[in-house]
Amino acid sequence: MSRLEGKMAIITGAASGIGLACARRFAAEGASVIGIDRQACDDWDAATQAAPASRLHQADVTDPDALAEVARQTIFELGGIDILVTAAGIGEGGPVNMLEEASWDRVIDVNLKGTFLAIKAVIDNMIERRTGSIITIASVEGINGTEGGSAYNASKGGVVLLTKNVAIDYGRLGIRCNTICPGFIDTPLLNSVMDNMPEFRADVEKQVKLGRFGAADEIAGAACFLASDDASYVTGHSLVVDGGYTAGHSHGIVEMLGLV
Ligand code: NAI
Repeated sequence: MSRLEGKMAIITGAASGIGLACARRFAAEGASVIGIDRQACDDWDAATQAAPASRLHQADVTDPDALAEVARQTIFELGGIDILVTAAGIGEGGPVNMLEEASWDRVIDVNLKGTFLAIKAVIDNMIERRTGSIITIASVEGINGTEGGSAYNASKGGVVLLTKNVAIDYGRLGIRCNTICPGFIDTPLLNSVMDNMPEFRADVEKQVKLGRFGAADEIAGAACFLASDDASYVTGHSLVVDGGYTAGHSHGIVEMLGLV
């Protein structure tokens, strides 16, 4: 398989979970992979060993100068940027009356503004080269509300619409922009929330129609499709990858009928 042969990709949030899985998959498909994350990653070299070139920059997605510098170096060393995946994100929140303003600011800054800043850092090069595939990582919580989700859901809803607008603004310049809305994916971020709430975990699992949480590799597979030429006519799309969580409600009927 080499669906991304010769492509240059920048991935934010690349040190863990979904971003790291994308780095591994893109490298296996022949892309050069430049990661950005505020933390280091012991697994980076092994994950990206198949890539023609790879590097993980320690930088924060809320820092426009740092993002611009990574883009500048990537263009200088690799010749351009074909793919951007914006996977850096944090999960925080609570009902509005219980949510500190500082927490709201943190979530919006990283999840929404960080996505905007990463796109801003690469878009001029994509415009110049009349090509590019941008894949943002939103969430099913950017489409529907969730109890206590205020800041997180608002940030991800913002990512969904920012994605559509980027698709509209740059489509005629050969640039595609799509978002992936993952459901519940087994990563350090999800586990940090779920580990303290076993009842919540069990309830969510009941609502996932495939009966299990997703793996980060299953999001990387969707990102690989959107990054590749197989998705050459796909833009402005929100691709839900959630094991059927948002397909509809389960009320125990299939169990009652003895189907499962
Ligand atoms: P993760 O915690 O495993 O990975 C996120 C990475 O982003 C971490 O390496 C972290 O250091 C990095 N990061 C956070 N803030 C940063 C900043 N300011 N600058 C640079 N790097 C930063 O989490 P996961 O689950 O892989 O999440 C990736 C994306 O997927 C996030 O945007 C998250 O909201 C989204 N998502 C995750 C779901 C899940 O169930 N795991 C479900 C839906 C969406």
